[in-house]
Amino acid sequence: MSDRLIIFDTTLRDGEQSPGATMTEDEKIEVARQLVKLGVDVIEAGFPAASPGDLRAVQRISREVKGVTICALARANQQDIDAAWEGVRDAEQPRIHTFIATSPIHMEYKLRKTPEQVLEAARFAVRTAKRYVSDVEFSAEDATRSDWDFLCRVFAAAIEEGATTINIPDTVGYAVPHEFAELVRYVTEHTPGIEKVTVSVHCHNDLGLATANTLAAIRVGARQAEVTINGIGERAGNTALEEVVMALHVRRDVFGGILPRVVTEQIVPTSKLVQRITGIQVQPNKAIVGANAFAHEAGIHQDGMLKHRMTYEIMTPQSVGWEASRLVLGKHSGRAGFTARLKELGYGDLSRERIEQLYQRFIDLCDRKKTVTDADIIAIVEDQLAQV
Ligand code: KIV
Ligand code: ZN
Repeated sequence: MSDRLIIFDTTLRDGEQSPGATMTEDEKIEVARQLVKLGVDVIEAGFPAASPGDLRAVQRISREVKGVTICALARANQQDIDAAWEGVRDAEQPRIHTFIATSPIHMEYKLRKTPEQVLEAARFAVRTAKRYVSDVEFSAEDATRSDWDFLCRVFAAAIEEGATTINIPDTVGYAVPHEFAELVRYVTEHTPGIEKVTVSVHCHNDLGLATANTLAAIRVGARQAEVTINGIGERAGNTALEEVVMALHVRRDVFGGILPRVVTEQIVPTSKLVQRITGIQVQPNKAIVGANAFAHEAGIHQDGMLKHRMTYEIMTPQSVGWEASRLVLGKHSGRAGFTARLKELGYGDLSRERIEQLYQRFIDLCDRKKTVTDADIIAIVEDQLAQV
């Protein structure tokens, strides 16, 4: 089994389905170019049957963005697949991604089809897409609420028709990690022909488990992860690219060296670009890309960091594209952090007594003010020195 993980980025398709995240054509091109710099393998550029604008954006990305597979989404019908082909026909490496739901609730209420009709539609979709491109991905929507044996039958049919990637979506973020891993393992052990294709997973974050589920699936053989930048996407979002990539790097010991070819230093620049373009800001405590991901306020932590950064950091900020860690000064900070900041501000030669006096004034100010800036600290020092 390969030890390379394929990164399938769907920021421009599932990510754009986040309320308020709509991007213009030019913005999509800018994001797509940055995704190439980041080193993703596949860009899902859009859903051409959804609107003429979506089709145009996929066509432009296919013409202008090279060095990566460009994928278009299509439901399992002729019109969608034709539109997807129109979208990606000029791409250097085109892929059509076709899907149909396989869970009882989706088949009965949404599709109004019997399982046998769904199976036939899956066959038809892959066969039709295959007439246009060699690279065809098939997804069983709502796989995690589907009957496992039926799922395997549908995947086997898709493989027989020529699918090259089989995707297992946790469409509604319902799975939990050990169960999702069991499902992926079951599919790989009970689907004829599965050894010829790439097994992919696509997780949503409704229970906050998208990254955990994706990693659990990778451990049991999934070799494509479908992700978005900052985890944007429908409802609570999709698996965050930055979390999966850094978990694989930081915990190589448990993942046996399975790695994507992502340039990790491009993670933060890409995250910032997507935040600026979509207007969706990540929360400060967001793993890897949040403003506080490498900030330390507690005195004990600052003291530890000053002695050896690995006491409180499991990766360097530079490895993901931040300039440096931040020791944030606040009422939880101790003397070590405060003294280090004084040094940075050019006050490295103060006596212990003087530092103690300044520290007491600083702590006093912290109780009165939410954030104490460098300017506040300089004002305290200058005022104190003026009194000498
Ligand atoms: O969540 C989902 O099931 C999807 C499919 C189209 C793969 O986005
Ligand atoms: Zn999705």
